[in-house]
Amino acid sequence: MKRPKIVINCAMSADGKIALPTKKQLRISCEKDIERMYKLRHDSDAILVGINTILSDDPKLTVKEKYVKNPHQPIRIILDSNCKTPVDALAVNTQAKTWIITSGKCNKKFKDNVEIIKCETDAEGLIDLEDLLEMLYNREIKTLLVEGGSTVIWNFLNNGLVDDIYVYMAPIIIGGSKTPTMADGEGIKSLDELINLEIVNVKRLGPGILFHFKMII
Ligand SMILES: NC(=O)c1ccc[n+]([C@@H]2O[C@H](COP(=O)([O-])OP(=O)(O)OC[C@H]3O[C@@H](n4cnc5c(N)ncnc54)[C@H](OP(=O)(O)O)[C@@H]3O)[C@@H](O)[C@H]2O)c1
Repeated sequence: MKRPKIVINCAMSADGKIALPTKKQLRISCEKDIERMYKLRHDSDAILVGINTILSDDPKLTVKEKYVKNPHQPIRIILDSNCKTPVDALAVNTQAKTWIITSGKCNKKFKDNVEIIKCETDAEGLIDLEDLLEMLYNREIKTLLVEGGSTVIWNFLNNGLVDDIYVYMAPIIIGGSKTPTMADGEGIKSLDELINLEIVNVKRLGPGILFHFKMII
């Protein structure tokens, strides 16, 4: 299958959590990591998140001028089977194009920068990632940055649809048995489903550590 290069980027605490126990966001990245993240966005054709991230964090998903001069604004992609994206969400503002990926009809009226694209669903009723990635490739998306949340990252990993993974680990503990981690979803059912990674690089970044992994398929 022809698909874009897929890069996961995520910031977590030392206990692997990526948000507060309430699922609301908190600042995990240090200033240097934020700068790295904006450069990664600038170098990507598109940024992808799941609908829950839009509903809980209301991210803009753009590149800030403060970090990248004359930034390229990647296309923002939201996996949103039932078109729950609010018409006033920051991720649909006119600063960049947004593609909302649904599995059914969407009667909401968004501005002209927003396109609603229908995709097939998988056995769990979620957007079928292979169908999605083929469509993205055909639309000239050659580098896709997957930013979360936990369910989306899990599904990309579980389907072996990942090339590089960058994880910034901050020296903080959040705790909570239901706090989102980098990869939630169903988890593996048996040991032979373990997802193996190779460490490409590990370095200190500000007060934390940046890991660069590749997925071993
Ligand atoms: N620290 C970080 O780097 C970071 C970054 C981003 C998010 N977060 C955190 O992540 C949390 C949200 O994660 P989440 O797991 O609740 O939700 P999510 O991954 O943002 O969104 C999951 C939803 O996306 C939709 N979806 C459609 N197709 C999908 C597919 N193929 N695979 C996966 N999802 C698909 C589904 O909803 P429908 O069935 O309605 O379509 C699914 O329930 C928030 O707490 C947020 O703060 C942290």
